Amino acid sequence: MTTGKYPILFEPVKIGPVTAPNRFYQVPHCTGMGYLRPRADAALRGMKAEGGWGVVCNQETEIHPTSDLSPSPEGRLWDAADIPALRLMTDAIHKHGALAGIELAHNGAHAANLLTRAPVLSPSGGTINAMHPKQSRAMDKADIRDLRRWHRAAARRSREAGFDIIYVYAGHEMTLTQHFLLPQHNQRSDEYGGTLTNRVRLIRELLEETREEVGDTCAVAFRFAVDQMQGDAGMQATGEGREVVQMLADLPDLWDVNVSDWANDSATTRFQPEDGYQNEYIRFVKDVTQRPVVGVGRLTSPDMMVSMIEKGIVDFIGAARPSIADPFLPAKIREDRIEEIRECIGCNICVACDNQSIPIRCTQNPTMGEEWRRGWHPEQVAPKGAAEAALVIGAGPAGLECAMQLAKRGYAVTLADAREDLGGRALREGSLAGLAAWRRVADNRLHDLRQRANVSIYVQSRLSAAEVAELGIANVFVATGATWRGDGAGRTSHGPIPVDGAMRVLTPDDIMDGTVPPAGPIAIYDDDPAYMGGVLASQLAEAGRDVTLITPAPIVSPWTEMTLEQERIQTTLVALGVQIMTCRTLVRVTDKACVTSGVYGEAEQTIACASVLMVTSRHRDTALYDELAAMRAAGDIALDTLELIGDAAQPGLIADAVQSGHAAARAFEGDPAATDAAYFRREMIALADEGEHA
Ligand SMILES: Cc1cc2nc3c(=O)[nH]c(=O)nc-3n(C[C@H](O)[C@H](O)[C@H](O)COP(=O)(O)O)c2cc1C
Ligand code: SF4
Repeated sequence: MTTGKYPILFEPVKIGPVTAPNRFYQVPHCTGMGYLRPRADAALRGMKAEGGWGVVCNQETEIHPTSDLSPSPEGRLWDAADIPALRLMTDAIHKHGALAGIELAHNGAHAANLLTRAPVLSPSGGTINAMHPKQSRAMDKADIRDLRRWHRAAARRSREAGFDIIYVYAGHEMTLTQHFLLPQHNQRSDEYGGTLTNRVRLIRELLEETREEVGDTCAVAFRFAVDQMQGDAGMQATGEGREVVQMLADLPDLWDVNVSDWANDSATTRFQPEDGYQNEYIRFVKDVTQRPVVGVGRLTSPDMMVSMIEKGIVDFIGAARPSIADPFLPAKIREDRIEEIRECIGCNICVACDNQSIPIRCTQNPTMGEEWRRGWHPEQVAPKGAAEAALVIGAGPAGLECAMQLAKRGYAVTLADAREDLGGRALREGSLAGLAAWRRVADNRLHDLRQRANVSIYVQSRLSAAEVAELGIANVFVATGATWRGDGAGRTSHGPIPVDGAMRVLTPDDIMDGTVPPAGPIAIYDDDPAYMGGVLASQLAEAGRDVTLITPAPIVSPWTEMTLEQERIQTTLVALGVQIMTCRTLVRVTDKACVTSGVYGEAEQTIACASVLMVTSRHRDTALYDELAAMRAAGDIALDTLELIGDAAQPGLIADAVQSGHAAARAFEGDPAATDAAYFRREMIALADEGEHA
């Protein structure tokens, strides 16, 4: 087998009794499928193995009904009835020669037990780490014995399900084992509390008992957050984090180390622009243990990977998001196809799906989560049908993806865009503070398109309907995008808000076009739940402007809680001196001020400003499509296909636009799974014979 220019990455590595075929290690990550959609989950993991990941793990896996993460469908191994579903996954992974890992988890006070209504368990009792008005119960000795018994049983069942690597998991401040470790959560006075030796006792027991249970058939891994990134207020890699590794040094067969909490671990590029951002925290681990070490931190560049191995920071290149954005990343490195890697942009849409308890999706990889239900392969698409050519109008995320997939299928593709720089909103939003990595959505696709002889690209070509007719291409995909409204209509005010003509009103598009708001205070009216209002507020404040952000929401950019960014966004704005007015609706704009009221119409308040930046909602740009549709209806243009895609069809996330372009390209002359008629396969719950539960 070839190993490309980076042979070190393709060396086999022993993990206790098993051997990974290479150093590419997909660390545990949720999929929003878990026990609810086991076939889909198995197909997703199998795709990673097919793409070359030497180890493919599942996700945090509840070991008992007292660790019930409902409504999130995570892994579940409460009893033997869960084994067959997990067996699907291990079979799919083994089929491609990879090792399968399972992350056993008791989530303690992170699991609200909403389905089971079991008591919530924690080392010392108290509040729970979930937005639910419930408290946890301090575990007594019998509870600890029970926990050890459940973990042991889950380890045994994991082996029966075919897993090669079995985890003990103390990370993300989401697990009982980590809660025992941290004085913040553990105030016990018995042998499980107080000194670090006592606080580490439970982990030691679980590691030893897991090994006893699985013998030398499986490796025992320990996922451990070495630093809470809270400075002196939390565990630090320079203090107890290091001591824990020293105390347990060679007990596990593998150390999977990272930082906590989840927002720090799965940091977005907006707040952690550098890949490899965890290296400074984890680099000590290999000095302290003989066991192989895996680390993470949006690792996509093979040069960075090699240097991490050569510098002795890790043995395995761990990845969640890079493996989601490109399941074939290892294969592309092996085959010297580095430029083809779809690099993760660090937007955390994948994380948002988990937080919404829905199947995973990814901005860069529209096939993620669709492997089973639509049969989509990230690297393969059906060859073209009878038609020869297609025209894609608009080179934003939807247009680029559609054009690329059509070109891969073999059509002669003409791609035209009104602007000089291609990439649409990926490029434009990528110009905003902290979002530079988002340009990768355009870079990856443009690179692909420019390699292809069957693609013609026209820039600065705003096509009229007549020009489209002149081109004589019978299949047209219109991806003309959407523009931000300046009239204030949005989620709260469904119609335009009265604005005095003397006030300067701007939109996010104006800022992205380089317009500088006139001197004086700027009021941002943010009625959009996502990131845009917060991004613009921080960009303008960083430029020294006096900014007030007014929002009907109770917090800034509320949807960004899903991407684990909200607290950072709001903290940053406060630090930058942005005035934040929550639960306020914009009533009208005078020549010198915004007039707001409470969301239920309470007392009006006036905020003096020199300009208003409306971040409310977007207009679909359908003028060209509408004209073409009218011409087609009148018989003035012969079109076999006329389809609106992306934001022009339905404004949403960049991920939605990419997915729309992808689905349209697959559905064109073919893939019935991409059409509405057979939207996707549903994973149905089999009704067990009543007798089985009697
Ligand atoms: C969608 C998603 C789900 C995750 N779920 C888990 C999980 O179930 N268990 C876990 O230990 N880590 C989980 N993580 C954290 C990752 O394993 C990883 O440590 C983190 O994302 C940093 O690595 P990356 O930069 O390669 O993504 C998840 C990450 C993502 C993106
Ligand atoms: S959704 Fe965004 S952060 Fe997640 S893997 Fe895809 S590109 Fe990366």
